Amino acid sequence: MRVRRRVRNAARVRNAVLHTCICTARAERHREVAVIRDARHSGRVSKRTGTAMPQKTMNDLLLMMMQDVYYAERQILKALPKLAKASENEDLKTALLHHREETQGQVERLQKAFEALGKRARGQTCEAINGLIEEGEEIVEEIQEGAVRDAGIVASAQAVEHYEMARYGTIIAWAKAVGANDVVKLMQETLEEEKKADSTLNQLATRTLNQEAVKQAA
Ligand SMILES: [Fe+2]
Repeated sequence: MRVRRRVRNAARVRNAVLHTCICTARAERHREVAVIRDARHSGRVSKRTGTAMPQKTMNDLLLMMMQDVYYAERQILKALPKLAKASENEDLKTALLHHREETQGQVERLQKAFEALGKRARGQTCEAINGLIEEGEEIVEEIQEGAVRDAGIVASAQAVEHYEMARYGTIIAWAKAVGANDVVKLMQETLEEEKKADSTLNQLATRTLNQEAVKQAA
């Protein structure tokens, strides 16, 4: 009888200890969750990665944007000759290849801009430009050579130009804000080239290519 009671008591103690451990663990976990939730609400933890977000400065933001566009320009360097090769219209081929040469200069200008900030030129993968380039590749893969494909190529090349114009516009504004005047000057030269490339493509499309494409489909 006494033995049985001792066993029962031992089991009770064991359960109590176990319960205390579980409760402690639960409470600990609740505390952790609350801390993470509070940090998320206050913007200190990345919602995407769940890790703590370091405090960024405007200079960091400028650098991140430059890394983004540096990656983009190097992808564009590879994409433009493919689009030129897939184009039928000679003026379109020439415009794309001319802009490829300009893009090489834009990469070098970005390297100078990194240098002006005392940073090493480094690219950061940008899914936005990857998507735009893929869109151009799809047009080439899915439309046979001719005026309709050319009209599609112009549209995807212009989408890339507009992406670049948006990025360089932001870089110039942020570089002005932090007083990085060398960066402002360099990027303004590039922005002008991008605007001109967009305008050339626009004229090609509206004056010739779109009408030729309509005729081809008729
Ligand atoms: Fe461009």
